[in-house]
Formats: sequence, C-alpha cells, structure tokens
Amino acid sequence: MDRIRIRGGKPLSGTIAIGGAKNAALPLMVAGMLTDEKLTLANVPRLADIETMASLLGVLDIGIDDLNGDGRVLAIGGAIGSNEAPYDIVRKMRASILVLGPLLARVGEARVSLPGGCAIGTRPVDLHLKGLTQMGAEIDLEGGYISARVAGRLKGATILFPQVSVGATENLLMAATLADGRTELLNAAREPEIADLATCLIAMGAKIEGVGSDRLVIEGVPRLHAARHTILPDRIETGTYACAAAIAGGAVMLAGASAAHLGAVLRTLAECGVEIEERPDGLMIRREAGLRGVDVMTEPYPGFPTDMQAQFMALMAVADGAAMLTETIFENRFMHVPELNRMGARINVHGASAIVRGVAALSGAPVMATDLRASVSLVLAGLAAQGETVVNRVYHLDRGYEALEAKLAACGAAIERIR
Ligand code: EPZ
Repeated sequence: MDRIRIRGGKPLSGTIAIGGAKNAALPLMVAGMLTDEKLTLANVPRLADIETMASLLGVLDIGIDDLNGDGRVLAIGGAIGSNEAPYDIVRKMRASILVLGPLLARVGEARVSLPGGCAIGTRPVDLHLKGLTQMGAEIDLEGGYISARVAGRLKGATILFPQVSVGATENLLMAATLADGRTELLNAAREPEIADLATCLIAMGAKIEGVGSDRLVIEGVPRLHAARHTILPDRIETGTYACAAAIAGGAVMLAGASAAHLGAVLRTLAECGVEIEERPDGLMIRREAGLRGVDVMTEPYPGFPTDMQAQFMALMAVADGAAMLTETIFENRFMHVPELNRMGARINVHGASAIVRGVAALSGAPVMATDLRASVSLVLAGLAAQGETVVNRVYHLDRGYEALEAKLAACGAAIERIR
C-alpha cells in the first residue's frame, strides 16, 4: 500500500493547476446515461473515483469513450445493457447511488446495492428513495439491494426535501428530466456542482428552471440528446491548496481556480490572516504573518463546506488562539482529530464541535488516513510539522486529489510517495 512521506517546515512558492471538480464530474458522467446519443465531458479529473464510476457505467453496459486517450475528455451514452449496480462497486463509492434515478427514467427498472455506512457517518439514502417513490416508482429493499421499477414513465411530482441533500437533489433532477410532466424540487441543494449538472442537462435538451436556487422546476421531455460540457474547477481542491499555502506559509498561485464558489472559505481564510488576490487566471494565496484562530460551522452551500472542515482544522491547529469548528452535515466527521493530536495538536471534541487550541508547532508522526478529506488534512499538518510525517492508506487521497504530491513538490514541499 502506498504511503506519503513529508518533511515539514518548508514554505511553498509556485503554481498549482486546479482540475475539474470530482463532485461535478461524477453526476455528470451519470447524466450520460440519460441519452442514446453521446454526452462529451471535458476537463475530467484523473481520479480513482472517476475510474470507479467508469467501471460502474461499464457494468451497466453504457458506452464510454476516452476521446484523447488521456482520460480528460469522455464521451458517454447509448443503449443501457444492464440495470444492476453491484455491491462490489457501490461499496467503494457511494455516488454510485446516482444511477438509480437515470436507470428508472431510461429503462424503468433498477437493482442497485444499498451503499451502507462509511467512515464519515451512516449516510442513508432514504431521501433518494422517497422522492423516486413520489414519482411513481415501486421500491423494495431485499438482500442488501434496492429493487425499483416503474410502469411506463416516471411521473412529475412536487418533492419537498426535509433536509438538504446534494445526492438526492442530483438523482431526482436527472430522473425528472425524462419524467412525464412537471417536477418541483423544494429545499433543493444549491451546491455549484448541481448548477453545473443542470447546465449540462439543459444543453442536452432538458427543461429546467431555477438553476442555482433551492427550487428547481423541471418539465419532463421524452428524450435528451448529445451535448458537450466542460466541468467546472474543483472548489474543494482549490480550498485545500489555499490551506496548504496558508499552513506552510509562502505564496502559491492556484491556476484556473475561481473565487466564485468559495466565498465562505475565502472569507474565513482572510479572517485568519491569509492574503487572497483574485487574478484573471486564478487565485494568488499568500501567508506571511501568523494565523489567527477563527470559529467555523459547516453548512450546505453557500455556507462553509463540510468537505473543507478537516483541512481548516489542520490550519487552526497551528493558529494563534482557539477556534471552534462545528460540523452540522455529517455526524462522524472528526476522524482526523486523534491523528492530528498524535502530531501534537490540542483538539477536544464535544458532540458536533471541536475546540482547537493552537500550538506553536506540530511534530511529524506516522498517521493513518480514514477518508478523503481527513487524509489530506494530515498531509497539510505534515507540511507545517517539525520532522517527518508518514501518511498511511493513501488510496483515500487518490479518490479525490490528482497528483497531490507532485503538485506540492513543484512548489517546494519535501513530499514523496513511497510505493
Ligand atoms: C455529497 O455527498 C458529496 N459527494 C460529499 O463529498 C459532500 O461531503 C456532501 O455532498 C455534502 O456536501 C459527492 O458529491 C459525490 P448529502 P452526498 O446527500 O450527496 C443526509 C467528498 O469528500 N442524508 O448532501 O452523499 C446525509 O447522511 C465528499 O468529496 C440523509 O439523511 O451528501 C448527510 O448527513 C464526501 N438521507 C446529509 O444528508 C439521504 O437520503 C447531507 O448528505 C441523503 C442524505
């Protein structure tokens, strides 16, 4: 199993290219299932999760062509050969549940393994199932699988989400594009990745109003057609490298990054003492003076993203003063805390909040990654720590960060992958 070794204490200087957003690319690949023609996606990031989604589409017998041979431009679509998403793939990646709505919309029948819990919480899929039931699907749970079928087309419905869910919004949005009649999604998630998906679906011929808002109105059409879409830049990758520059000190240009979708993160970093400059070609992040502790609460977009909580915690571990970080999206997303504490951080968890008391310096240690964002927070801590940090179970990182060690090493970090 690969590990990552970091010798901390080096400021960063240079340019990091930001890739396409993982959490936009995954639903967009699934959107390719909605047409007999081809959906061409550009700016696809090269990540383990993208490969997992490609294998899932492969199992469903959906055509997927790598147009340039480098994995960055994919053409997806065609007849659907199978309607079963097996446990072996779904257990690896929860986003697999997104095929449920499109399968029902296209072939009227689906068998999708239940995803089960994961390191960051129980993560049920009840909102996906309830919405599809309201659209006329009959759903049974048996043998760890969701069996769903609908006679004829799904029917438009008014669906009020009791809780904001990114995945359920995406699943029902896709299903509704091909449903009979009008669907209203109320209290829909407003994450930029959903707007990116909706923009692509509109290019494919879908009729959607309210893009970017919490009320999406979809008028179903009988079929969608070919389109080309460029995936938006990854706001979480951007925020992660902004934290890297902030924790290590120095100046890093995040090329291709956009401030547009990072309001809450950039405002918080600025409060901590990080300098942020918007440039036509990206974001310049600089940190010369000390860091100040700032409290943060995770919230659905446009609030502070849960996917940035662990990285921000690493930063707060070395800030001047205390910070309270409250997690409101997932009930168990503090798995990085014991590992950061092993590196000398002073963090106490009380229910959904973590109190971080900044220390003058962290010390390098062997640490264990538990999920994607937790792992990268340990890498960030390693950049600031004295001595050597070895992050184990690096496969978590490969799910969501392309060439992480190469990007940081190019900016002067002493970081390498041990195979
Ligand atoms: C998406 O997960 C992201 N994944 C996650 O990214 C992200 O952390 C999360 O949204 C929140 O922003 C992708 O986009 C592929 P949710 P998703 O449905 O859709 C509860 C990363 O590191 N809920 O918005 O699964 C759920 O348990 C990650 O890249 C239900 O109760 O998240 C959670 O507490 C990991 N019932 C809350 O809602 C449901 O049916 C929000 O989850 C669905 C969700």
